[in-house]
Amino acid sequence: MSTTTTPDNQVASNHNGSTQNSNPPLQISKRLENFKASIFTHMSNLAVKHGAINLGQGFPNFDGPEFVKEAAIQAIKDGKNQYARGYGVPDLNLAIAERFKRDTGLVMDPEKEITITSGCTEAMAATILGLINPGDEVILFAPFYDSYKGNLSMAGAKTKGITLRPPDFGVPIDELKSTISKNTRAIILNTPHNPTGKMFTREELSTIASLCIENDVLVFTDEVYNKLAFEMDHISMASLPGMYERTVTLNSLGKTFSLTGWKIGWAIGPQHLTWGVRQAHAFITFSTSTPMQWAAATALRAPDSYYEELKRDYSAKKAILVEGLKAVGFTVHPSSGTFFVVVDHTPFGLAKDIEFCEYLIKEVGVAAIPTSVFYLNPEEGKDLVRFAFCKDEGTLRAAVERMKEKLLRK
Ligand SMILES: Cc1ncc(COP(=O)(O)O)c(C=O)c1O
Repeated sequence: MSTTTTPDNQVASNHNGSTQNSNPPLQISKRLENFKASIFTHMSNLAVKHGAINLGQGFPNFDGPEFVKEAAIQAIKDGKNQYARGYGVPDLNLAIAERFKRDTGLVMDPEKEITITSGCTEAMAATILGLINPGDEVILFAPFYDSYKGNLSMAGAKTKGITLRPPDFGVPIDELKSTISKNTRAIILNTPHNPTGKMFTREELSTIASLCIENDVLVFTDEVYNKLAFEMDHISMASLPGMYERTVTLNSLGKTFSLTGWKIGWAIGPQHLTWGVRQAHAFITFSTSTPMQWAAATALRAPDSYYEELKRDYSAKKAILVEGLKAVGFTVHPSSGTFFVVVDHTPFGLAKDIEFCEYLIKEVGVAAIPTSVFYLNPEEGKDLVRFAFCKDEGTLRAAVERMKEKLLRK
């Protein structure tokens, strides 16, 4: 099968009643020509077609908290509806600085070191486009969130991959040492890590930090799941000795407040790095939704009890899914954070993850995400699929029941 290679607009063109063949040939810049259509879209479309329970895409099937939604409504009613200041509504910059200080101990200047973006996705794009030159070498840990590679390609970077392997997805230190050099401009980190749920340990972060300092390398660290850390405490790379001045920390509201559609994100970094991020941000979106920024400031000032409850709720969901997947017969790899868990699907007899996920949707009625799309070399992910537990408990239980009933070991 290869619907994954079919660009979305060929499908969309059918809405006009015209045939695919009568369309002009698709056009795309060289920077993006090697990218395939999103596997997320493909699997979600297939899930809808077959009435499958969707444990694929990483967004909650429940709503965000009332107090944050009320704050957005109030901001709109109060007339906070025109362009925001480019680098953020002042109160949100301040709320992020306060939150970051509580989380990491670092005192950041809200006016000079924090930039509000349209989600973490834009924060990463602005960071890469604002700080990476064509030909610069950037190290990426595979599997990785797909937008990083697209951003690196748009920036003309030379990407070097280091693969994290099951069962623990630990950092292969010797490989990292032989890959990093004075030619490396930056390393991209993601902890807690999508798709594996791995959390980088203090030891791993310290080793990476000393290699970055030795080779004068920057770190761009995506920490959108920092409040979904179950098995250990989250550690921000910026808080390690010598790392503040070479680290940009990226985060967003979406996962922590179950408001993924709001797309409020931010980049935190010292002034000399923030300058590049802000210049890129100025020419990508310039500024992001004003009333949602005001509401985000309210969200970030939530009491500790909000964060405790979030973790309690997600721990219960995780237990249902992990126990269920084990009972079905999967080898479940340990996940310390995020709302994802990765399993080995090979006990069920199919050779590749995409094939397995299509079978799971069509014959069993459950959607998951094949992980091969998160690797530079897709072969490395062919045994693994990712399930998301950011769903209500009834949905998780129903998915497990379907798998117990219909998914048989070969
Ligand atoms: C690791 C990671 N980074 C960034 C994002 C996107 O964040 P945002 O919605 O804030 O752009 C996601 C969403 O799934 C993610 O998993």
